[in-house]
Amino acid sequence: MSPPDPNGRDSLRARLRAATGPAHRALEDSLDWRARVATLAGYRDLLARLHGFHAAWEPAIGMELADEPFLGPRRRLALLAADLGHLGLSPTGIGALPGPGPVRLPGAGAAMGALYVLEGSTLGGQVIGRHITSLHGFSGDGLGYYRAHGPRTGAMWSIFLERLERFSDDHTAVTAGAVATFAALRVWLCGPQPGEAAGSITMPERETRLSETIMRKQ
Ligand code: HEM
Repeated sequence: MSPPDPNGRDSLRARLRAATGPAHRALEDSLDWRARVATLAGYRDLLARLHGFHAAWEPAIGMELADEPFLGPRRRLALLAADLGHLGLSPTGIGALPGPGPVRLPGAGAAMGALYVLEGSTLGGQVIGRHITSLHGFSGDGLGYYRAHGPRTGAMWSIFLERLERFSDDHTAVTAGAVATFAALRVWLCGPQPGEAAGSITMPERETRLSETIMRKQ
């Protein structure tokens, strides 16, 4: 039997989009990306936080999916390091950037849910990337993370969605993984960093608990 159409009403993608819609809006609101990328220092801080997140989540996703030909072109940690280098951070400085700590995902379904969040961010990322280009002039160097798949964004997303539908039977785990990843990303990008004063964002209790179940230290 062929997998469901990713754009169909009963697709796993449709269910995921409905389940994570509120989290997407909450992240967009908390991120306040226009203000953050308005200065080079703010843009660098955002990339540094994304670097910490990808450094923790990409290996966790890779371990559970065990499919490097599929995941490899979607990894963006090296792009973040190159952008940060272009913005003046030394390799030692990049290596010393804080991260949320090791993550373990409970299976391939949860990993696919987490990847749905990271791949989905390449869509809105195109809007953010164009804005950064207009403000700071970067187009190649310095914009690798937001450029991501560039002109192949639509094709990469379609291929991702086709693969996602193979996980329909595991939809509970995929959804839990996606919801938890959105919550963890919001905490990491918008909350205080290690060593900073606490404050700024309030996480709904349920989201915090979900993300804690996934972000177990090894
Ligand atoms: C790091 C933060 C973000 C993450 C993790 C994220 C995640 C996602 C995900 C998972 C999707 C796919 C939804 C679907 O199934 O269709 C998506 C789509 C999208 N996001 Fe975001 N997003 C982020 C930030 C933003 C921001 C700041 C904007 C606004 C500029 C934005 C605009 C969009 C747009 C326009 C789409 C495409 C909707 C469509 O074509 O159906 N996103 N994002």
